[in-house]
Amino acid sequence: MHKTLSVAKDTWWVGVNDYETDLFESLWPLPQGVAYNAYVVLGDKTAAIDTVKGPWFDDYFDKVTSALDGRPLDYLVVNHMEPDHAGVIGSLRCAYPDLQLIGNAKTLPLLREYHGIEEGVVQVKDGENLDLGGHLLAFYTIPMVHWPESMVTFDSATKVLFSNDAFGGYGAHEGGLFDDEKPRERWEGEMLRYYATIVARYSGMVQTALKKLSALDIAGIYPAHGTLFREDIGQAVELYDRWSKQETESGVVVAYGSMYGNTRRMAEAVCRGISEGGVKNVRLYDAARSDTSQILRDIWRYKGLVLLGCTYNTLLFPAVDALCTKLINRMLKKRVLGIAGSYSWSKGALDALRAFADTVKLEKIGPEVEVFAAPTEADLEQCVELGKNMAKAVA
Ligand SMILES: Cc1cc2nc3c(=O)[nH]c(=O)nc-3n(C[C@H](O)[C@H](O)[C@H](O)COP(=O)(O)O)c2cc1C
Ligand SMILES: [Fe+2]
Ligand SMILES: [Fe+2]
Repeated sequence: MHKTLSVAKDTWWVGVNDYETDLFESLWPLPQGVAYNAYVVLGDKTAAIDTVKGPWFDDYFDKVTSALDGRPLDYLVVNHMEPDHAGVIGSLRCAYPDLQLIGNAKTLPLLREYHGIEEGVVQVKDGENLDLGGHLLAFYTIPMVHWPESMVTFDSATKVLFSNDAFGGYGAHEGGLFDDEKPRERWEGEMLRYYATIVARYSGMVQTALKKLSALDIAGIYPAHGTLFREDIGQAVELYDRWSKQETESGVVVAYGSMYGNTRRMAEAVCRGISEGGVKNVRLYDAARSDTSQILRDIWRYKGLVLLGCTYNTLLFPAVDALCTKLINRMLKKRVLGIAGSYSWSKGALDALRAFADTVKLEKIGPEVEVFAAPTEADLEQCVELGKNMAKAVA
């Protein structure tokens, strides 16, 4: 077994698989784990590209020293200051006191505040190069994808783009690192779930970054999480282009909140209508019990969204309300929206969903259905009708 893996000429993967973090950013479940990809490039000078999350220093350092094979580490490129990649900068500096850190103007204050590091830092401008001797590294800022200091590094010798969180996905490596070593269905869903949870809000900035990087002659995209692309980098670029333009597939996500099953029955009737309308991709989610990251992933994939909630203490049922907040935050666009609510005295749920619809300005598909207590046959028929209309709208 190798301590580290060669991933291009003079280039080593020194990342780690993390199966121990249950929730990424204390929010998003990791059923397949997550990888923190980091790299070492060996020229006349040596450089590490990114580090890993704090608890993984020993594993990372073991791989870094194996890749260096007795040489010192001259540079650390800090593409991103989020602690899943910058967590062990201080420890690495202790191991290599002469280590020069490479960052941009936005990186430096974060290095100072997170790690107390001000010395031995080289500030690079957008597009600036660092010549390692045999490998010329160029740095490009990609602001707000997904932090202000986010940056990518391009090695013109290998044509590898070290893209940090851009093009990243959840899921630890299961032996293979590359797109040609894994089935697409094993990584694409986890890459989209990562996009929907972490990157989606900044889709406009992703478009800016894609345009900026399009001039580069790229042979490999090596992100800081998930699959490395070398066989078909076009597929990764195409997915990112599509997701950031909020282009969708035919299908409908139906998410509901229900305490005693009445609103659930309405949701099921909507799904039946969608199915009768000939659309196969229907995803029904109980918002209170389902993993929100999966709901967000599927909302990012499909054109149709139906939200249903019962009224709870005059307001929209909390789990649906929380989902609405996440969608507003992600600036959801280019979807068609259906809404329905239930109540027994004051009402409230459907009004809140109407306010949500006004905020996100999505095209609304009728009918709006509002049910008193338990849905009647006629109410359920209205729900089926909504489903059929959704099917037409997403076909
Ligand atoms: C704890 C609780 C709080 C509720 N608050 C309201 C309310 O403020 N206004 C209202 O019109 N209905 C309220 N309801 C009634 C529900 O919205 C209504 O019974 C609805 O049909 C429940 O749908 P479900 O069976 O899908 O849970 C409340 C019900 C419960 C159990
Ligand atoms: Fe990040
Ligand atoms: Fe990250």
